Amino acid sequence: MLKATAFTQVLWFPEESAAAKKISDRKGQVGMKKWLAALAAAVSLMIPAALSQAETKTIVLATDMHYLSPSLTDYGERFMETVYASDGKIIQYSAEICKAFAEDMLRLSPDAVILSGDLTLNGSAASLEEFADLMRPLEEAGIQVLAIPGNHDVGGKAYSFAEDGIRSFPAAKAAEYEAIYADYGLNESVQRDEASLSYIAQVGDALRLVMLDVNANGTEGSVREKTLEWLETQLREAQEKGMAVIGVSHQNLLPQNPYYSAGVMINRPQKLRALYEKYGVSLNLSGHTHMQHIAFEGSLTEIVTSSLILTPCQYGVITVEDGKPVSYDARAVDVEAWAGQHGEEKEDLLHFTEYAPAFFVDVVGRKVRAILAGAEIPEEERQRMEDFAVMTSLRDFTGTRTAGDEEADLALWLQYLPNNGFTYYLKGAVAESGWPMVHYDFP
Ligand SMILES: [Fe+2]
Repeated sequence: MLKATAFTQVLWFPEESAAAKKISDRKGQVGMKKWLAALAAAVSLMIPAALSQAETKTIVLATDMHYLSPSLTDYGERFMETVYASDGKIIQYSAEICKAFAEDMLRLSPDAVILSGDLTLNGSAASLEEFADLMRPLEEAGIQVLAIPGNHDVGGKAYSFAEDGIRSFPAAKAAEYEAIYADYGLNESVQRDEASLSYIAQVGDALRLVMLDVNANGTEGSVREKTLEWLETQLREAQEKGMAVIGVSHQNLLPQNPYYSAGVMINRPQKLRALYEKYGVSLNLSGHTHMQHIAFEGSLTEIVTSSLILTPCQYGVITVEDGKPVSYDARAVDVEAWAGQHGEEKEDLLHFTEYAPAFFVDVVGRKVRAILAGAEIPEEERQRMEDFAVMTSLRDFTGTRTAGDEEADLALWLQYLPNNGFTYYLKGAVAESGWPMVHYDFP
């Protein structure tokens, strides 16, 4: 952003400026400097004032990258069984996707990169450290990296994968996470909470972010009363200082879909929502479901960015002017470019734009076929149900919903498998067809 001072310097020739002297000598106009000074002052009052008043910031949100240290897997059969049992996340290339993401960020050079939790597959210290190392060049390039833990980063069990079995070991403790990620938000915070790893981040002059940790405080998905008290003080202070505030959490603040909101939201979010409404916080950014989604309730908008390692491996780019969000755009990590530049030989990575959705279709197709196998369905209808379920799921996760003749296909699921959980899921996804949730212009 061109600041008034910079703009004025361009027009204002200082006393000893060679350019000013040259003009003065050539024209022989004694009053030239004074005239230029008057002109610069007039212009700086008019044009630059308008330019400098709007502070534009670019913020990226990436989430649920579930980084797994290559030292913890042999990428063998047992490991791939786990990958296929998951929801389509490309865990086998989490390291490569995260490296490509880091390079994308260095090219994009946003003001801040928010990492909203589930940084690792299952919270091993090795994965936490390696992922933190991948983000270090961003900080060194002057990009604010701001992280919070998800429900898979701290406490519980971590795993390693080998042919002779899957071994579990204790995941990192909150203190270990804090030590590794202190430079990514906590150390440079406006204020941090004593009851959790929550903190307030300042981005530019006009915006503060509530980086809310609801996972490392001992109760997954919950906001402690003490944290709410701390938060109210912070929101009041921000209001007094005329700062805009955007919330960030791992789990969702709003129900994104009535058919599957249970278990993915912040527990008892009413008090938090009331606080945000009271202090004019109108946007929350989150992840956790691995699905791209936008929801509205009252004065609140929540944008859920899909998992960074699930096709198309996207992150959200939010443009903010004077603290006010203007637009949100999901963009895919350019894994192919990274693979080409780094001499990768794996075809999956070199042709990642084809591989990523095909892998998702493969994973979900296996699950859907297993569900359909249990019911007596004529072959033609079974195939139609499978195709519909896989494509609906793909559109749902990637946020690229389009209206179609889905009702007829959904009717088959309701007819043959009326009480199956997957039918409920499809019902919810179809109910929302019609608008893509990868782009949003704020009103
Ligand atoms: Fe999560």
